[in-house]
Amino acid sequence: MDAPYQAAPDVHVLPTHLTLPTMGVLPINAYLLLAEEPVLIDAGIGADGDEFLEALASIIDPTALRWVWLTHDDADHTGSIERVLELAPHARLATRAFSALRMSSWWPVPLHRVHAIRAGDRLPVGDRTLRAVSPPLYDNPLSTGLLDEATGALFSADSFGALLPEATQDAGEVPEDVLTGAMRAWASSESPWAHVLDRQRFAQVLDGVRRLEPTRIFSSHLPAASGTSLERFLQVLESVPDAEPAVPPSQEEFARMVATMVATPPVPAE
Ligand SMILES: [Fe+2]
Ligand SMILES: [Fe+2]
Repeated sequence: MDAPYQAAPDVHVLPTHLTLPTMGVLPINAYLLLAEEPVLIDAGIGADGDEFLEALASIIDPTALRWVWLTHDDADHTGSIERVLELAPHARLATRAFSALRMSSWWPVPLHRVHAIRAGDRLPVGDRTLRAVSPPLYDNPLSTGLLDEATGALFSADSFGALLPEATQDAGEVPEDVLTGAMRAWASSESPWAHVLDRQRFAQVLDGVRRLEPTRIFSSHLPAASGTSLERFLQVLESVPDAEPAVPPSQEEFARMVATMVATPPVPAE
């Protein structure tokens, strides 16, 4: 787990990352949106456990949470969700109906607390309304991001992610060409179906994101992107269908990755 940080007056980031040896670092963010009815967006990775809960409690008393918005039921988004819901008895779980039902095959989802969402729905959270949106690329068809209609903040689930050279809090610190390549490679790897897309239809999908006029992009897999341009990000995604498809590591490459993870044995004393 990395140190939480504030990315906007009402947005806190609960970040962690996954190191992929020889490849880079994948940021994994949960977010806390301090609406009048506070919303936790996703719940970290299981390996962080107590650390995630402590980080959350350092920002807000979990009993004050009113919503947990789960963008999708992948393991890197659901790590502490069961424990969060235990600690936040007043929170409802906003997610897709099928995410809730599928998760109930591996943990006892309190289905009576689930609020089923789908793209286009609007969820009032006190002082503002959240609009459920489909991210343009995704690795899970249940993925549902959200637009904060009050501020224009777009929480884009896995879309606009990137495997970076090192962990950072600001995507603006990553050289532009590095970020472009990393975002394209991530998109190709996590949405391999992008390579068989009808280009015109995909352009319409990206236009749909443009029409949301987001002021900020908060991706689950990118540092909380201050000062980055939506138009530039959309152009990167637009290039994905014609980019070189991602090739997964071979056994030899995987073995090299694992070798760098194994601690070097200590040099014996003379
Ligand atoms: Fe995912
Ligand atoms: Fe993810």
